[in-house]
Amino acid sequence: MASSVEKAAGAPKAELHVHIEGTLEPELIFQLAQRNEVQLPWASIQTLRQAYSFSSLQSFLDIYHVATRVLVTERDFADLARAYVERAQADKVIHAEIFFDPQTHMERGVALETIVAGLEQGLKEGDEFGFSSRLIMCFLRHLPESKALETLEQALPLFSHYPHRLIGVGLDSTEIGIPPRTFERVFAAARRAGIEVVAHAGEEGPAEYVWDALDALQVSRVDHGVASSEDDDLVDRLVREQIPLTVCPLSNLRLKVVEDMKQHPIRSLLERGVKVMVNSDDPAYFGGYVNDNYAAIINSLNLSGPQVFQLLSNSLEACFMPAEWKRNALSALTNYWHGT
Ligand code: HPA
Ligand code: ZN
Repeated sequence: MASSVEKAAGAPKAELHVHIEGTLEPELIFQLAQRNEVQLPWASIQTLRQAYSFSSLQSFLDIYHVATRVLVTERDFADLARAYVERAQADKVIHAEIFFDPQTHMERGVALETIVAGLEQGLKEGDEFGFSSRLIMCFLRHLPESKALETLEQALPLFSHYPHRLIGVGLDSTEIGIPPRTFERVFAAARRAGIEVVAHAGEEGPAEYVWDALDALQVSRVDHGVASSEDDDLVDRLVREQIPLTVCPLSNLRLKVVEDMKQHPIRSLLERGVKVMVNSDDPAYFGGYVNDNYAAIINSLNLSGPQVFQLLSNSLEACFMPAEWKRNALSALTNYWHGT
């Protein structure tokens, strides 16, 4: 019989927490730097890889934002999206809800239209061979809310132009010291426009930030949210309201949110009934794509077959696709899992 790791690897699944800029592999960074004549602070792919030894979220973000400077043209964003689709399909991802950070590119003079048109081009090719995808535009938490409001205003016509692709807004970047409520107005404006809302909270920051994302931003899904495990009242609420947490195990290990994968809270959250699932966050930086994340927790936390199945089905249930799509995807997973 196949091991749980192999069985999970072959199972249809959704990925709901992946930053497209975090899928930028070192080889592509150097290729695009050459194509666009962008100077990088690293002499070679090897020195860049050596810099991937992180002590915190900020130590990662400092490199991540510099590497994104190689993304300039529509073609670059299309190449990036195409490379992710290919990699995700190899892991049997059938649907992905993909974050992008427009402000980091717009600060360098790249137009929002260029970013979205390029990503759309790459993702559209995925549609043609059955890979479903949506985009979630993130606001950078280290910039003021006024900038997020300007970005949302500029993006609204694009939400209308790409309704099949651009469906949500999120909140990412530096967390500590910046509670989600700081972005209350921009999230209210997005909700009024009928846009889905999610936010990173409780990654490095405390459980209060998860409360804050739920109460002030009224998110329907929390990204990371692992700090919730320290607050029983919060866990009760997440279970009662069936709020999904998009957990990223290898990211948490690499950014020192957990010291050891054996101490990762995903198993206890799952056992307490929270709708958690497994995602890769920034796979080019954290040592693996979604199946590597499944393998890491299955091995370190000794997950049972039914627990792995629950994680996979949570990924399909927690996505923003229509009910009929979810029913079909869940039945494909069930048939695969039970071998019919
Ligand atoms: N946290 C916050 N911001 C991010 C992350 C993350 O894990 N990845 C990319 N931007
Ligand atoms: Zn993230």
